[in-house]
Amino acid sequence: MVSIEEQKHGVALAALDLVVRGMVVGLGSGSTAEVFISLLARRCSGYRLRCLASSRRSFALAKSLGLELVEWESATDEIAVDLCVDGADAIWIPPQESKESNSCLVKGAGGCMVRERVLSVRARRFVVIVDARKEVSSLHGATVPIEVLPYGVASTLAFLRGFPELDAVELRCEPETGAFFVSDNGHYIADARLSARLEALPQALSARLDSLPGVIGHGLFINAADDVFIGSEAGVKTLRVAR
Ligand code: A5P
Repeated sequence: MVSIEEQKHGVALAALDLVVRGMVVGLGSGSTAEVFISLLARRCSGYRLRCLASSRRSFALAKSLGLELVEWESATDEIAVDLCVDGADAIWIPPQESKESNSCLVKGAGGCMVRERVLSVRARRFVVIVDARKEVSSLHGATVPIEVLPYGVASTLAFLRGFPELDAVELRCEPETGAFFVSDNGHYIADARLSARLEALPQALSARLDSLPGVIGHGLFINAADDVFIGSEAGVKTLRVAR
């Protein structure tokens, strides 16, 4: 029996194999990305790496472990990101018999998907590392986070509740205080359940979310990864999905 923690360690190690000296490495967010960050700091300390973080939490962890961080907010020179490694909440890969060739990730349970997307699209190679629980045969029922501007939030939520592919659209709250969760970017997060009206690949929904005023970003990442490493009982499964 390979535990979830062992699977996370296995996929993080597989991603670590892609790191070479002098790289600029994008750091994802979430518990699996944090395993990668810890291994990176421990095993690549002499590699003269520079890192970009997708969240304040990943930034703080990487810094505390001695990794060199670039403050992307204040960087005025363009920085080429060689490799970005991040986790995901769900991954749907089309079955072999399907005519569909695009994969879909759902990200953002930690509320960091907007920065994660900004970072990952800049990367020459975007590698997603997940444990076996994340691979799904359908996205129906998955929760997709949507980052929304506080200004006009009730109106934005009303629009979102009218989308047939979304159910149970609610603003995320802090469990302890009940206050609305605020992202690193200063916005609210609406969580929505993907309904049975969703097509296998949610391209149309993604496009409509992208064009809705008040929506800053969302957790549907279509055809975004270059490689996916999935933990399993038999070891790490490697899928080259290619953007
Ligand atoms: C953070 O906002 C997310 O996109 C994470 O990448 C995702 O939630 C995966 O987290 P775990 O590795 O903790 O499951």
